[in-house]
Amino acid sequence: MNQRVAVFGLGYVGCVTAACLSRDGHQVVGVDVDAGKVDAVNQGRSPVLENGLEALVREQVAAGRLRATTDPREAVRESELGLIAVGTPSADDGSVQTGQVERVVRSIGQALRAAPRPYTLVLRSTLLPGLLEERLASCLDEALGWEPAGQVQLCNNPEFLRETTAIADYDQPPLVVVGASDPVVGRRVLELYQGVSGPRVLTDTRTAAMLKYASNAYHALKVAFANEIGALSRSLGIDGQEVMRLVCQDTRLNVSAAYLRPGFAFGGSCLPKDVRALKRFAQREAVACDVLAAILSSNEAHLERALRALRADGSRKLGLVGLSYKAESDDLRESPLVLLAETLLGRGCDLRIYDPHVRVPGLVGSNLSYIERHLPHLAALLVERPEALWDHAELLIVGTDVADGLPELATFPGRVFDLRRDLVVSQPAEWLAPT
Ligand SMILES: NC(=O)c1ccc[n+]([C@@H]2O[C@H](COP(=O)([O-])OP(=O)(O)OC[C@H]3O[C@@H](n4cnc5c(N)ncnc54)[C@H](O)[C@@H]3O)[C@@H](O)[C@H]2O)c1
Repeated sequence: MNQRVAVFGLGYVGCVTAACLSRDGHQVVGVDVDAGKVDAVNQGRSPVLENGLEALVREQVAAGRLRATTDPREAVRESELGLIAVGTPSADDGSVQTGQVERVVRSIGQALRAAPRPYTLVLRSTLLPGLLEERLASCLDEALGWEPAGQVQLCNNPEFLRETTAIADYDQPPLVVVGASDPVVGRRVLELYQGVSGPRVLTDTRTAAMLKYASNAYHALKVAFANEIGALSRSLGIDGQEVMRLVCQDTRLNVSAAYLRPGFAFGGSCLPKDVRALKRFAQREAVACDVLAAILSSNEAHLERALRALRADGSRKLGLVGLSYKAESDDLRESPLVLLAETLLGRGCDLRIYDPHVRVPGLVGSNLSYIERHLPHLAALLVERPEALWDHAELLIVGTDVADGLPELATFPGRVFDLRRDLVVSQPAEWLAPT
């Protein structure tokens, strides 16, 4: 269904969005405080340099489906939905400046104050979770001056386009994401993009906002990582392009969803050792590799987070499910669960551990010496049957997928702290609910 849409902000995102929505049959009015940009659009020119945009704006303005104004009241009057694509630049301290979005939200609220009616405000600008729900929502309420009771909705629709390929990205986005508290409103926003391919996602506003930041941070991390591997390769006399080409050829473990779920710290006999070796080599060669150098401290910080949460919980009688670095292994070397157990014992906690694959008499070599250094009394902590943990513990700490083979966990009467998911303490029923 075609809609009447106002697009606030005629920069890269706003102008591309306005022109593409108009091309796809919607009636669009663009709004900008910059009269030069408004004039450009009305004269059929693009106010920003973007491949293909000039021709698209010319065509849409000529067809009468796209025009622009500096007057937000006029734009609100002519639309039932306002997309907000103004800037959210960094402040000197790195925080997000919200002045432009706040002004737009107020101007829409004021326009609706005089003539109350249903309206949907859709934030396309990038804003940290919480700013829409708190700051913008209260700007809107103040400006409206009447109780909207669900008639005026504020939701978000993060944009993933890249400059220079913006129209192609608009047409084939990796995801079309709408964050909304009311799914009916969310679906109406998704309908704007009927002409667009790509998977549709309807979620809450905070998740949608965080997804945008997570995506950009991940892209930035990929660039920095590839550059560091390139720099290290060069200092080793290796072609970094070829190394990364081969890294990307592995779509099972490298370029895939593998290792991309928030869970517990990594460990085991390889990852910490090999990251440490790269870091040491980079130091010796004086190749600045801050990303690689930060990996182990980030991992330690995650272990610390878990330990802080356990301290805050205060339970003294604890049960730990899993001890080796992953289920079905008896490898304890650099398992973060060993370090967790060691710290908890040091705090005086009464700890029992269940891991069916760890048998002290079976441990040999470096595996045995590691555990002798960190948990010399392991045999006294291990229990044979999981029920022994239930009988003992006030709080059960789930460390690895050993727990997946324990349906009886559902009967545990205490609380569960699942390190494999976000560090939240829950009841077994919530814990077992599918995510
Ligand atoms: N540029 C990108 O590639 C890109 C991609 C995805 C998301 N984003 C996000 O989208 C948002 C917009 O980015 P952009 O690059 O298009 O910004 P931009 O600076 O190019 O455009 C912002 C426009 O908003 C106008 N504006 C400011 N205050 C206004 C007001 N009160 N009313 C109407 N118009 C007003 C400005 O005059 C300007 O034309 C940002 O939050 C950005 O982080 C940008």
